[in-house]
Amino acid sequence: MSQPYELDVLNPATEEVIATVPGAVAQDVDAAVARAARAQRTWAAASPADRARHLRRFAAAVDAHVEELAQLEVREAGHTIGNARWEAGNVRDLLDYSAGGVERLTGRQIPVPGGIDLTILEPLGVVGVIAPWNFPMPIAAWGTAPALAAGNAVILKPAETTPLTALRLAELALEAGLPEDLFQVLPGRGDVAGDALVRHPGVAKIVFTGSTRIGKQIMSTCADRVKRVTLELGGKSPNIVFADADLETAAAAAPMSFLDNSGQDCCARTRILVQAPVYERFVELLAPAVESVVVGDPADENTQMGPLISKTQLEKVRSYVPGDLPGIRGTAPTGPGFWFPPTVLTGLEPQAPAAVEEVFGPVAVVLPFDDEDDAVRLANATDYGLSGSIWTRDVGRALRVSGAVAAGNLSVNSHSSVRYWTPFGGYRQSGLGRELGPDALTAFTETKNVFIATEA
Ligand code: NAI
Ligand code: MG
Repeated sequence: MSQPYELDVLNPATEEVIATVPGAVAQDVDAAVARAARAQRTWAAASPADRARHLRRFAAAVDAHVEELAQLEVREAGHTIGNARWEAGNVRDLLDYSAGGVERLTGRQIPVPGGIDLTILEPLGVVGVIAPWNFPMPIAAWGTAPALAAGNAVILKPAETTPLTALRLAELALEAGLPEDLFQVLPGRGDVAGDALVRHPGVAKIVFTGSTRIGKQIMSTCADRVKRVTLELGGKSPNIVFADADLETAAAAAPMSFLDNSGQDCCARTRILVQAPVYERFVELLAPAVESVVVGDPADENTQMGPLISKTQLEKVRSYVPGDLPGIRGTAPTGPGFWFPPTVLTGLEPQAPAAVEEVFGPVAVVLPFDDEDDAVRLANATDYGLSGSIWTRDVGRALRVSGAVAAGNLSVNSHSSVRYWTPFGGYRQSGLGRELGPDALTAFTETKNVFIATEA
């Protein structure tokens, strides 16, 4: 496709069109890559302190616009205002953290006979970041900030439905003095602009977050050129509650572990596994907690859950909850907007689609288990392996189960998954590679070994 086209950006809480943005075609990607490659050479040659200072200024510009960015995210993505402020703050913090890594991105000198051996980390060149709509700002930054810090240029393709905060971040980068063309945002269709970025020979690495289906497709396209790729894909994460857990606390924490961001979260704890002797008691405690979640206008400070992103997503979520399945249901507004109530399904078979597939909506299942082995077996009974939670007062069990669950991000007596200074990513079909954490910059470098003979 090379015809000009536009993307309509809707407010998912009202279905009103709030902006229309030109979409990029392959020629735009070509031109952007050529400009980015030029900018990258100058950027890589700049002193580390200089690059770090630029990134800190970018962080400061984001900090000065947290409220504006957050309000924009409420309107384009339906995120609650509290979450949206956190998301803009996450971009700022990650830019600052990455800036701190610039002067610390060091190679090695390894002893060898007859000379000196240097291991040097070089930037890759131009990096393509393909971001999803569920966390448009943070996920864009998780690829962009460390890639820039390691001396690369970045072309970011935001999701079709959420280009606005990405475009604003690109403006802020320029206002903060980042070199022209170093960080470019190209809104556009995935199968057009995204695909062109993936195929482009001038793009050294693709950082993709999105569906497992498209992730596999991108990986196979990258294989043609052995292009570097990082994939953050789907999840179907367990929330394992043992009989010895603090049940009140576990039940109080469970709703927002899958309802936050309306469940459009790859780490959502959507499979609640409860040890049989406390199953009924847990469901009794869970019901009022789910029913009392405040769903509504995301701009309202008291709202805990907003709408889904789109009609497509709403239809997908509905398809998993046909008719009158038994369970717990919260409330949601009616009328315009892509609303779906908090839902917990009870009595499903462990192999039911809603129990093993990523719904990406405010829907969880509760399943009973017998003992520790059974819990681990159930926890691992999906193709995914992104995150998970373990609730128990037995520290030995917490460690055993953490070791046995095949997932990249686990939490004990907590649902926390994501910190910009700890590594994040999936096992199995949840992804490939890691983002964030102390090694984030290294993922955007190529390793070169140079031997220098000292023998006369
Ligand atoms: P998607 O995987 O199609 O979209 C993610 C990004 O990839 C967007 O920027 C999109 O434009 C781009 N893209 C799509 N096709 C492409 C292609 N052929 N080449 C290059 N880039 C391409 O995800 P979609 O359709 O928005 O959501 C479908 C499902 O995927 C969701 O219901 C959810 O289950 C899952 N998903 C998971 C996410 C996660 O955080 N792991 C994020 C978004 C979606
Ligand atoms: Mg898609």
